[in-house]
Amino acid sequence: MEVSPTEICYQGSKYPHKLGASVLDTLLENGVEIPYSCRAGVCQSCVMRCDTGELPANCQTGLKDTLCSQGYFLACQCKPEEKLSVTLPNDLGMFGHATVVEKTLLSANICGLKLLSFLPLDYHAGQFINLRNAEGCIRSYSLASLPAQQEYLELHIRRHPDGEMSSWLFDEIQPGDLLDLQGPNGQCFYISDNPEQTLLLIGTGTGLAPLLGIVRDALYSGHTGPIYLYHGSGSLEGLYHQEILEQLAKRHENFSYQQCLSAGIGKQPVPLEGLLEKWPGRADEIAFERHIDLNNTQIYLCGAPAMVKAAQRRAFLAGAELALIHADPFLTRAD
Ligand SMILES: Cc1cc2nc3c(=O)[nH]c(=O)nc-3n(C[C@H](O)[C@H](O)[C@H](O)COP(=O)(O)OP(=O)(O)OC[C@H]3O[C@@H](n4cnc5c(N)ncnc54)[C@H](O)[C@@H]3O)c2cc1C
Ligand code: FES
Repeated sequence: MEVSPTEICYQGSKYPHKLGASVLDTLLENGVEIPYSCRAGVCQSCVMRCDTGELPANCQTGLKDTLCSQGYFLACQCKPEEKLSVTLPNDLGMFGHATVVEKTLLSANICGLKLLSFLPLDYHAGQFINLRNAEGCIRSYSLASLPAQQEYLELHIRRHPDGEMSSWLFDEIQPGDLLDLQGPNGQCFYISDNPEQTLLLIGTGTGLAPLLGIVRDALYSGHTGPIYLYHGSGSLEGLYHQEILEQLAKRHENFSYQQCLSAGIGKQPVPLEGLLEKWPGRADEIAFERHIDLNNTQIYLCGAPAMVKAAQRRAFLAGAELALIHADPFLTRAD
């Protein structure tokens, strides 16, 4: 990489900056610890503020207008061509507080958290919030709750064995504990313009959280078009919330729900009879085999980044309109 005369100034120190590198790259290479997770411009955990210098284009994509006008930007997406002076955001205005009101085990490595935000949060079911712990670690989690019906925020957390935030949320946090919270963020939510439209929702693992939120919102808003939800997992245990979803399908004729097993049925501890019918295979493959005409269909894709990427491509090639494909890949540091 070419060395440029630019530099990044942060907390009174100057760090040489290579053209083409992001502000996040430069700070990490120099041993400066700042929060980050996806490195792809999705999670917003790397937000910083520019005090002097010109921000390049595209490093504020997805941020609220009020933050953009104050010079906030995404450090992982910012590849400056001139000297920048940056700081971590002033907490006032960005992070609020919430208390944990309930914690439940949804499967062996997924827990449900209900949080009560100190200040009302104006959000759409399916959007995501960022949680921050006392160590300054920031991670994104999607909202399964429906603001019109639930006063708490409902999250589904999958425990990554060596994951900093998810292990802490899964193993340690308890009702009564406090958390910092920022949001809402993201564009993955129900749009009520066309109540007769078909909704096709495909998710893996805790990708169910935003999809459940979107289904709740659509049904609550009186959506009359068909709503198809495909939930996939590598194990039967990962197909949590079965009862809640089956109840919803019983109560609403236009909602149907299909569980899908992606990792060989033979490997599952269940009787073999009728298995293919009940758990037919990978969620995205089954969904696109069954739904060939994607015209005028809102498509929602959430969860494992590889599935989301493949499904986005497949939907587009099958004729879905780009503007009707909404995707939240659950990118982690490993991606
Ligand atoms: C928009 C969005 C919505 C999301 N919604 C949800 C949700 O509803 N539910 C949910 O469970 N998750 C969700 N996620 C994922 C979540 O934000 C976290 O990424 C996840 O919980 C892992 O965080 P962690 O701190 O536990 O793991 P991390 O500490 O970030 O580690 C994750 C993995 O990366 C590896 N790793 C850590 N550091 C590095 C490194 N420097 N280089 C390479 N690999 C590394 C670890 O070994 C581990 O395997 C969402 C993500 C996004 C972007
Ligand atoms: S948006 Fe920058 S690390 Fe996720």
